[in-house]
Amino acid sequence: MTAIMDRPLGGEPKPVHHGATINLKLKVWRQNGPTAQGHFDTIEATDIGEDASFLEMLDLVNEKLNNDGKEPITFDHDCREGICGTCSLMINGVAHGPERGTATCQLHMRKFHDGQEVTVEPWRATAFPIIKDLMVNRSAFDRIIEAGGYITVSAGSAPDANLIPIPKTVADASMDSAACIGCGACVAACPNGAANLFTSAKIAHLNLLPQGQSERYKRVEAMVDTMEQYFGSCTNHGECQEACPKSISIDNIALMNKDYMKAKFKNRRYLSR
Ligand code: SF4
Ligand code: FES
Repeated sequence: MTAIMDRPLGGEPKPVHHGATINLKLKVWRQNGPTAQGHFDTIEATDIGEDASFLEMLDLVNEKLNNDGKEPITFDHDCREGICGTCSLMINGVAHGPERGTATCQLHMRKFHDGQEVTVEPWRATAFPIIKDLMVNRSAFDRIIEAGGYITVSAGSAPDANLIPIPKTVADASMDSAACIGCGACVAACPNGAANLFTSAKIAHLNLLPQGQSERYKRVEAMVDTMEQYFGSCTNHGECQEACPKSISIDNIALMNKDYMKAKFKNRRYLSR
């Protein structure tokens, strides 16, 4: 159990923890803007409770930088519960750090040891330009989602739960794909900077369900074509699946490729009518 800061009135904030503490030497990427020259800053992170999360550790470092009149490190975060996908850090060269299946916000400092040197970088991908320090612009993902459009299902009143029977295996596969939080670790880990795992997960969670059938082939063609405008090509390295904090399977990519090929025939037929 860790309280991040005890802030007595008028006094210096102090970290509070109820367990072992560690000291780290951080090598943090600092960059003032998308076109500025970046560099690594060496920053000491001292007296960090091992129950703190990685982002809480950065909060403490930023408090100290602020108090010393220095510029704090810019990094992205929101939910801090592994849901929103904004916490995107390359930690010692690994997307989201050393614990597989965990987003940066849920990574704890007990995964590091006292005296360790820890390198912290933003995602490195052409499609994700750096905004500042560790924060990148992932709006290329939004362009793919926009291209997917909407589904033409009558919303109406609330239907009975069993009105559209869906086999459990199909519902489970769709839910597994829907677990993608859009963090971009798959792109950052891919040697080609490809977004096939993200795009395929977003396609699969609709294409697997009956409600997603009306626009199935229109959707897959538009989303894949948009993906290819921004991201590199997939050559089946599989690094994306290893880096994914939500264990999204590359089986989704196989489904996307199959649907895309079908779409190329079906959509051409519709156009020629
Ligand atoms: S597929 Fe995984 S790694 Fe890629 S954006 Fe979704 S959650 Fe993140
Ligand atoms: S801050 Fe939302 S997933 Fe990490």
